[in-house]
Amino acid sequence: MAIDMKGRNLATLHDLSLEEMQEIFAVAQEIKAKCKAGETTHLLKGKTLAMIFQKPSTRTRVSFEVGMAQLGGHALYLGPNDMQLNRGETIADTAKVLSRYVDGIMARVFAHDDILGLCENASVPVINGLSDLTHPCQVLADLLTIIEHRGELKGLKLAYIGDGNNMAHSLMLGCVKMGMDFTMAAPDEFQPDARIVKWTQEDAAATGAKALISTNPVEAVKDADIVYTDVWASMGQEAEHAARLKKFAGYEVNAKLVAHARKDYLFMHCLPAHRGEEVSAEVIDGPNSVVFDEAENRLHAQKAVMALMM
Ligand code: CP
Ligand code: NVA
Repeated sequence: MAIDMKGRNLATLHDLSLEEMQEIFAVAQEIKAKCKAGETTHLLKGKTLAMIFQKPSTRTRVSFEVGMAQLGGHALYLGPNDMQLNRGETIADTAKVLSRYVDGIMARVFAHDDILGLCENASVPVINGLSDLTHPCQVLADLLTIIEHRGELKGLKLAYIGDGNNMAHSLMLGCVKMGMDFTMAAPDEFQPDARIVKWTQEDAAATGAKALISTNPVEAVKDADIVYTDVWASMGQEAEHAARLKKFAGYEVNAKLVAHARKDYLFMHCLPAHRGEEVSAEVIDGPNSVVFDEAENRLHAQKAVMALMM
């Protein structure tokens, strides 16, 4: 581990430098190879991670819990009804109390401010396991997956089609930071957050990457190396699901749309997916899809993050 990241938080990918991201990928590849070879990597022996979940999860919960076990530590699942947070205890007090027991906090929350509140008040590292604004751990796993399939990231073009949500935000930050071009198409009403776009433009200027945000899926996907999509209604937006289906008509990633991408394009999705909505079954279950590699790499990328920060 060449770069010291001990004690750091991961709230968004904007917090990380290019070199720190590269270090995470290098450590993840090393840990993954050892894991595949059946070697133990007890880098966090005896340490405990508190996992706060205000929303459901399959991948995040299982990959962090298994990851801690594989690193020789222990993870504690704290669901929506398990803590006094639900009864009005503040995020600040929760962060201070947990810091007296555990060595790291991973949190999946609604409001991104809750992640920032944990970061400000905890004396142990805080890792964002998804907020309404960003999902950095997913994108670290996604970029690791692209490295495995394409060798390197710089110069590739990733096109994101759909909602300007937490996934779109973390992808745009992660891509340009690594020197990848990022294009996105979303209906006017669902364009990304202006603050994230500003950070993206700053980071793109530093690496020479291009970021282009539009409403036209065909233009966005043209010659893309990677085509990415996510659900049209995120967790907490269930009541808007039917209305959103109508508003996103024409934004499905299907065979007709991906015909504009490079022939050897990779299809990516953070999962869970809705076949027949944001993606057709033909594309997500087709030969270019690497969605289960992404899911697996959550484990390896997060083990690297935890080993480096905790
Ligand atoms: N991609 C992802 O974060 O999945 P979960 O909601 O299952 O954790
Ligand atoms: N945008 C989705 C991502 C799920 C991993 C959500 O927030 O529900």
